[in-house]
Formats: sequence, C-alpha cells, structure tokens
Amino acid sequence: MSIMRTKSIEQSIRETDEPEYQLKKRLSALDLTVFGVGVIIGAGIFTVTGRAAQEYAGPSIIISFVIGAVCCGLAALCYAEFASTVPVSGSAYTFSYAALGELVAWIIGWDLLLELMLGASVVAQGWSQYADLFLGQLGFDWPDALASGSHFDLLAFLLVATITLIVSLGIKESMRVNLVLVAVKVFIVLFVIVAGLGFVKASNYTPFIPPSQPTKAEEGLTAPLIQVLFGIEPVTFGILGIVTGASIVFFAYIGFDVVATTAEEAKNPQRDLPIGIIASLVICTVLYMAVAAVITGMVPYDQIDPKAALASAFESVGKGGYATLIAAGAVAGLTTVIMTLLIGATRVVFAMSRDWLLPPVLGKTNVGTGTPLRITISLGLFIALVASLTPIGKLEEMVNIGTLAAFTLVSVAVIILRRRRPDLQRAFKVPFVPVLPIVSALVCFYLMLNLSVETWLRFIVWMAIGFVLYFFYGHRNSRLSGRAKEGEVPSMTST
Ligand code: ALA
Repeated sequence: MSIMRTKSIEQSIRETDEPEYQLKKRLSALDLTVFGVGVIIGAGIFTVTGRAAQEYAGPSIIISFVIGAVCCGLAALCYAEFASTVPVSGSAYTFSYAALGELVAWIIGWDLLLELMLGASVVAQGWSQYADLFLGQLGFDWPDALASGSHFDLLAFLLVATITLIVSLGIKESMRVNLVLVAVKVFIVLFVIVAGLGFVKASNYTPFIPPSQPTKAEEGLTAPLIQVLFGIEPVTFGILGIVTGASIVFFAYIGFDVVATTAEEAKNPQRDLPIGIIASLVICTVLYMAVAAVITGMVPYDQIDPKAALASAFESVGKGGYATLIAAGAVAGLTTVIMTLLIGATRVVFAMSRDWLLPPVLGKTNVGTGTPLRITISLGLFIALVASLTPIGKLEEMVNIGTLAAFTLVSVAVIILRRRRPDLQRAFKVPFVPVLPIVSALVCFYLMLNLSVETWLRFIVWMAIGFVLYFFYGHRNSRLSGRAKEGEVPSMTST
C-alpha cells in the first residue's frame, strides 16, 4: 500500500454519518465567533505584549500586531476555504488527508496535537500563576508547596480536571461556560483600553520606531535558526525589531484555527465556519492593537515592566487597585483558552481514530453527551499531569512552531486541492490563488526560521516519534490500508 493514499472528500463527509462516530450539530456562527475569541485572547495579550514592546519594538509593537494579524489573516482565509469545503472534524488534519494524502495528514495531525496539548499545558501553568496572584490580592495565601514552580502545581491540576469535566458534559454546555468567561475577559480588556486612554501621553509615542541597536548574540541552541543558517547579525528595535516583535506576539493570535476543529458540530458549517474564523480574528486584532497603543502610550517603552505590563502601567499612574481586576481578567481569560485547546485536541484525536490511524475504540462518541468521552478524559488527565508535574511552561515556543508548521501546510494544501478537485463546492474561496496562499506559506515559514535551534530540535524529535507510531500502527491499521472493507466500522460498543 502506498503512503501517498488519499481519502476523497466525499468519503470523509460520508463517515461523519456513521452513528457510532456522530457529533451533535449544535453550534451557530455566534457560538463559533465566541469560541474563537475565547481561545485567541489569553496569555499573549496579558504577558507577551509588554515584553515585546520593551525588548524589541517600542511603540511600533502596534505595527508588529498588524504584521501578526496579516500573517494569521492569510492563513485564516485558507482555513476558511477548507472548512467550508470539507466540513469534517479535525481541521488541518482532515483537510490535508483530502489534499495531500495520508502520510502528510498524519504529520499534520501529530503536529496539531503538539500545538493543542502543549498549548493547554503551557497556558495552565500561566493560569496557576495568575490565580495565585489573584487569591493573594483577595487576602488568601496559597501554599508555596502546591503552587506554580513547586513539585506539584495543585491549582493547574484542579483547573484542568474541572475543565475536562465540563468538556465531557457536552459541546453546548462547554460553550455556555465559555460565553460567560469570554464576556468577563472582553469586558476587562475593554476596561483596560478605556481606563488607560485618559493616561496616554503623546510624547511616549516618540520615537515611534526606536533606532535599531546591535544586541548580544544568543549562543548555540538558544540562537534563532535564521541567525545560525545565514549569519544574520542580531539587532533590536528598528524595522527588524518590528518583525521580531511580530514573531513573538504571534503567540497571542494562536487559536483561531481551533474553530475549524469543531466543523461537524456547526449547524451550517459552510457559512458559519468562515464567519467564526475571520470574525474572531478581526475582533482580537482590533483589541490587541488598542491594548498595545494604550500600554506604550501610558509608559515610556524603556520603562515598561516586561513581567506585568498592564498592572504596572496602572500602578505608575496611581491606579494600583486595577491590578486585581486585571488578574481576574487573566484568570477568566486563560481558562477559556485551555478549555478550547482541549476541545480542539479531542476533536483531532477523534478524527484520527475514526480513520483508524489511532485505535478506533477511542473515538466512539457517548450517546448521552454526544462527545468522544474516552478521548476527552484521557487527554484531560494527560494535560493535567503534564501541567502540574513538569516545567512545561518553558516550552511555549514549541506551540508557535507547531502552529506555524500547520499554517504552512494548510496554505500549500489549498493550492493542491484547487488543482485536484476544481469541481468541489466551495462556499468560501481564498482570493488570488495561488499568490495569496504562497505568500501565506512563505510568511509562516519565515516566522518559523526566527525560532530557536533548540525549538527546532525538539520539534524534529516530536515528529520523529510520530513517524515511528505511524509506520508501526497507523499505516497498517488505517481504514485505507485495505484491512477493512469500505464502510465497515469496527464493532466495539459505544461508551
Ligand atoms: N492565543 C493564546 C494566548 O494568547 C494561545 O494565550
């Protein structure tokens, strides 16, 4: 059997009707937009913005956000075309199965798991730090022995366990909790913008692009790959600083792609998925640019506190009390990010097990909840243990590389599927094909090159483990391997 075997779009869509693998179609365009905003706004805006402005771009971090948005916007258009053509759970994994064949699909699925599971663990540790801070501000001292950075981060564990429970109950139930928390988070972000506007000084915006300065080269494994490959001298600020800032604030945009993982649960996926993906990205871009403008307008860029930019900016103008509100926003905000990443991860494993690339018994949906219960509980437990027992927080760049790799491949896949299947109904079409997807793939790959050598090495190791699993299990057992007759479903009972 060839490893280039491809599954037809029609076959993918047919499989969504198999009773044992059916998800409930309950989500509207609004649900999907809220879902997108829920996963996009998180640790990025609360922590990364200040650091990137202070270290790399000054007030021109606002332009970095525009570059990040353009990069993600290009990829979002590609995701939207696919989601409207192949409304099947699994996002980039499923799209590439149709366009590029099983091996590439496996690679993307494995890569998405890196983005989603690692992302959830990293953000859970960030959440634990904010929760600790928030409890402290309310006068409750959380014991250090069970806090972030200790041997067992109980707060992170409890959070992921609770989220797993909610996600297990059903997609609509998860969306209800999500809606409340997203409302709190957006309210607090808006509050920061409105309250901060009054303290903005025009003089802080000059120079808007601080002059570039040479910086100490990072050595060895921590140096960006592009620097090692092409011997580029590292600088901060100036135009290159804006680009570096963009590759860092990229983290703040990660998540809109997760909307596509819920394709089978949307009531009208062809119309609503593109709306959900693009609307959530536009809303977040506007909010991010406004927050970046407020922070750099309130505090001279070289005095921004890289650890807690928002809280410190208000302290510097005598409004230290707002710090509690900001911590509350972060606690609510990061909760929805983790919830959405967990939902995304379960839907990718679900799609892979329905294709028998992973054990099919995993993917059975529960009759009562309409969700893949076994996968949800297994992944939730795994993320809870990783977040509470390991120093995973240091691996956040791995989330960026995993996401950028998926964006690159999805952009290429749009062009290939247009050539292979021009006849397919596409409710949403990327304009200027192939130019726009090519630009999208190149921009994403360029940002990948800006990540460190050690991140690349870890990424390669993760992918190598994936290859071993594929050749020992997935390739032999896949539905397309010929082991199963067309349409045959393994006879395991539903949970
Ligand atoms: N975009 C998400 C965040 O900023 C991952 O936390």
